[in-house]
Amino acid sequence: MRRRPAAHRAERRRLARRLKRSRAVELNPLDAVDLAHLNRVSAMRELASSLAHELNQPLAAILSNAQAALRLLAHIPPDIAEARAALEDIVADDRRAGKVIQRLRAALPRVAVSMAAQDVNELAREVVRLASGAALHAGATVRAELAPGLPRVRGDGLRLRQAILHLLLNALDAVSRCPPDDRLVVVRTRAADRGRVELCVADSGEGVPPEDLERIFEPFFTTKTRGLGVGLSISRSIVEAHGGWLWAECSPGEGATLRCALPVWDEGARRAG
Ligand SMILES: Nc1ncnc2c1ncn2[C@@H]1O[C@H](COP(=O)(O)OP(=O)(O)OP(=O)(O)O)[C@@H](O)[C@H]1O
Ligand SMILES: [Mg+2]
Repeated sequence: MRRRPAAHRAERRRLARRLKRSRAVELNPLDAVDLAHLNRVSAMRELASSLAHELNQPLAAILSNAQAALRLLAHIPPDIAEARAALEDIVADDRRAGKVIQRLRAALPRVAVSMAAQDVNELAREVVRLASGAALHAGATVRAELAPGLPRVRGDGLRLRQAILHLLLNALDAVSRCPPDDRLVVVRTRAADRGRVELCVADSGEGVPPEDLERIFEPFFTTKTRGLGVGLSISRSIVEAHGGWLWAECSPGEGATLRCALPVWDEGARRAG
């Protein structure tokens, strides 16, 4: 059946009204951030509770067998045979706990690692591009001061970008609490000694108290209401897996500087290997 034009117009109007209604319930950006955070927290909570559930039993058994073994050895004369049995149970329970962790590792999807020569300046530029939306949201200026002619480093581009991105996102979080005109993040690269290239992310935020300079790399250390406290521990494991170092510096009255030193790609050794 052919529809009359008036019917088309009415339908278009109905569609337009429906579209408007659906836009009205669209998430605003902050709801979306909250939801993303909630998702990460829920996934983490679920993982932690299933781990706790599976590990609690062998851990409780290990504790009670260890206490029993101590009691048996304190007997006069010590009951060596029973103490040995308790210790054997401890070994079995410890293996059980180890298997739970192995199973968990095997269940997590693996990201392929592919080592290649990487241009640190290019990585820095890409990460600045990736974080441009977050920079806009924080009202911050991100400046790249990249030394020309740097040697390439050895690494997996995806992982290195991930590590640098965490640093940049933290810096943006830190400066978002400054007055609007003072929100500055600088990403710098330079040739460092001992065959390394250094990339640092410096910000104009409130900095890190001296007593926390190491703690901030511990898993789950966070001072943010929406933080998980995993960004820096992930970044440090990535950098260390590349034979590099990641550390934080902070002078009184200045913002934080996160420094990452990565070994230069050794072309000669690669050919020989
Ligand atoms: N540039 C910085 N300036 C000031 N404090 C920082 C900076 N970078 C990290 N921190 C401190 O280190 C803590 C840990 O950082 P990390 O990136 O590991 O976790 P997070 O940012 O809190 O959460 P997420 O897991 O979402 O990244 C932060 O909560 C903050 O207190
Ligand atoms: Mg972080």
